[in-house]
Amino acid sequence: MRKIVTICLIFSFMLSGYIITPAYAASGIAGTAHDFTDEGWDPPTYGNQVLGLCEACHIPHNADTTTEAPLWNHEITVQNYQPYTSQSLKATPEQPGLYSLLCLSCHDGTVAVDSYGNMDGSVFISDYDGSYVFGNDLTGDHPVGIQWTHKEPANCANCHFAHSGRTQLPFYDGKVECATCHDPHNKGDIDFNFLRITDVDSEICLFCHDK
Ligand code: HEC
Ligand code: HEC
Ligand code: HEC
Ligand code: HEC
Ligand code: HEC
Repeated sequence: MRKIVTICLIFSFMLSGYIITPAYAASGIAGTAHDFTDEGWDPPTYGNQVLGLCEACHIPHNADTTTEAPLWNHEITVQNYQPYTSQSLKATPEQPGLYSLLCLSCHDGTVAVDSYGNMDGSVFISDYDGSYVFGNDLTGDHPVGIQWTHKEPANCANCHFAHSGRTQLPFYDGKVECATCHDPHNKGDIDFNFLRITDVDSEICLFCHDK
């Protein structure tokens, strides 16, 4: 009898392991730096919202209609930034576009991470260990809000042929933004820094710069 119970236990353990593991792995954002479900924040006062994996950034209904960001639920930063500039830059540096501002809405350190669902939050990016506060000085950062001018030597097939077998990096109105290099959901299997392409051997850099 004992043996049968043990076998059953092992079996159900294997079974649950088999079912749970792939589902968890596929969920991408769970367990990453953008998983805020364990923060203990008070859920917004509207509806019966509990803090799920998405609510800090998106909401399925009553989303912010003043922005074209996808079903957006987080306060958006209103800072002015000092863009990257240099003598050799071919494009004209501009203010970060929306797909950078969405990130800077937590990462510039001026809007609280828990300012979502119309709440005034109180937890800032500087409260997290090892986080990187951008502030509004982007002069030391890879340019964003920058047009891809085709003046940079690069392998055409990286961006123009879907069958190249490489991950496509999204451009926003032809520009490089934070979300070009980073996927905030970590959907891929590259767990480090939410990168869309690994930076091992600078692979992500060589996607655009043929150096
Ligand atoms: C930390 C903020 C954050 C969290 C949490 C988050 N997202 Fe996003 N999401 C973004 C940003 C920023 C964009 C726009 C950039 C992009 O398209 O990747 C986006 C875009 C999207 C898009 C449209 C583009 C695409 O990738 O398909 C969908 C759909 C989406 N999110 C779904 C979700 C779902 C579902 C969850 C929860 C499981 C979630 N997001 C959690 C920030 C977040
Ligand atoms: C809702 C607030 C919020 C938004 C929006 C947001 N982040 Fe974050 N992000 C955080 C916080 C908080 C951390 C640090 C969490 C920690 O250290 O536990 C973080 C960490 C990161 C990290 C470090 C990852 C790691 O594994 O340590 C990267 C890279 C990052 N974010 C990029 C982005 C980019 C790019 C966007 C936009 C596409 C974005 N974030 C949007 C709050 C946000
Ligand atoms: C890093 C990604 C990237 C690489 C590499 C790249 N392109 Fe492009 N290309 C783009 C983007 C993004 C657009 C759309 C521009 C826009 O919307 O303003 C584009 C548009 C174009 C267009 C259409 C122009 C237009 O005005 O409609 C042509 C033609 C083109 N690329 C040719 C090339 C050739 C030839 C090469 C190689 C020498 C190349 N591209 C390399 C990203 C790239
Ligand atoms: C051209 C690609 C590219 C763009 C654009 C880009 N990043 Fe990154 N980012 C990277 C790479 C590669 C790393 C990992 C290497 C490193 O830590 O410097 C990184 C690292 C990070 C980290 C972790 C830093 C740390 O020290 O742990 C954060 C946070 C981050 N990026 C946020 C952003 C935000 C916010 C933007 C837009 C303002 C942005 N990134 C734009 C490529 C990019
Ligand atoms: C999605 C495409 C893309 C990726 C990925 C990318 N870059 Fe860039 N990078 C650009 C564009 C566009 C510019 C602006 C070029 C210009 O207008 O002269 C730029 C500018 C630069 C500059 C400044 C050049 C100057 O003249 O001042 C450096 C340096 C640079 N990138 C290095 C990197 C490194 C290192 C990585 C990898 C971590 C990287 N880039 C990844 C598109 C990209």
